[in-house]
Amino acid sequence: MTKPTLLIIGAAGNNGLATLDALTQKHQGKYTIRAGVRSEEKASSLQAKYPGIETCILDLDKPTTLAPAFSGVDKLFLIIGNNENREEQAQNAINAAVVSGTVKHVVFYSVFGSEYESILFGKQFRAGEKLLEKSGLAWTHLRTIFFQENFHGWADGIKQGALYLGVGEGKFAPLNIGNIGEIAANVICGEGHEGQAYAITGPELLSGPDMAQIFSEVTGKQVDYVSPDETTVLNSLLDSGWPQWQAKGMLELFALFASNQAAMISPDGEKLLGRPLTTLKEFAQSNKAAFV
Ligand SMILES: NC(=O)c1ccc[n+]([C@@H]2O[C@H](COP(=O)([O-])OP(=O)(O)OC[C@H]3O[C@@H](n4cnc5c(N)ncnc54)[C@H](OP(=O)(O)O)[C@@H]3O)[C@@H](O)[C@H]2O)c1
Repeated sequence: MTKPTLLIIGAAGNNGLATLDALTQKHQGKYTIRAGVRSEEKASSLQAKYPGIETCILDLDKPTTLAPAFSGVDKLFLIIGNNENREEQAQNAINAAVVSGTVKHVVFYSVFGSEYESILFGKQFRAGEKLLEKSGLAWTHLRTIFFQENFHGWADGIKQGALYLGVGEGKFAPLNIGNIGEIAANVICGEGHEGQAYAITGPELLSGPDMAQIFSEVTGKQVDYVSPDETTVLNSLLDSGWPQWQAKGMLELFALFASNQAAMISPDGEKLLGRPLTTLKEFAQSNKAAFV
């Protein structure tokens, strides 16, 4: 019998790779996996890493590239990257899925709290969710929170003894990307997920000082928590090359964390993973070399 075909868009990104790892290691043979990337170079590198998969070149900003990529696709995992036009890109992908006539189910990568549409990132992803819900296709939303892997971006400060994170007194539950990949693969290959919006957080609510303490324990050096003011955070993001829209979006996210509006642990991630989620301490221990 022919296997159904799964198309992953955003396949060469952090979450795409984590999902490909899980699909190829734990769900071998369930789908013909087609990884959608933007360049031949990325296609070759994915093909070398995952010999059993197909690759295709597509660009969510160029709708004409989508029809061939969707040929014979039964299921889509749609991961939209760090782009200001996320809504338009979602619309292009969903249109292509509908026009294909073969796609039955779309798993949509979204963000925790998107249903409140209170900040830019939430609005962008909720707009995509709404388009999908109206499309007539079966859908599942995976709403993920701040990644543990983001701490690599704060590694220089941690090495010098300070965790500069502008979340004031707020707490939130950082989430491991490896866990997300496994959860996504379980949802893609499992049954009964249609019409579900899953909130995926990490396993523990942590304040800035809690996180600094974890890095102190793991590195064996004192790491102090410092919450810079908004202007300092904005300038530091802009200096690091972030575009204005994204840096401002990040400030909104930090303000939301600071006001404890995202101070929640959802049970969905552990249920979908089938075991306890990775803690920040476990992440820091596995990546200790990056922080000492
Ligand atoms: N950082 C966080 O804590 C956090 C939390 C929740 C959600 N998110 C969001 O979740 C999403 C996935 O995160 P991630 O870390 O996996 O992102 P990522 O590593 O940046 O991967 C995004 C992928 O999208 C692809 N892409 C970008 N523009 C495209 C286009 N026009 N057409 C087709 N593909 C395109 C990129 O392709 P190339 O490889 O060719 O560039 C890349 O492979 C992002 O939007 C991220 O902002 C982030």
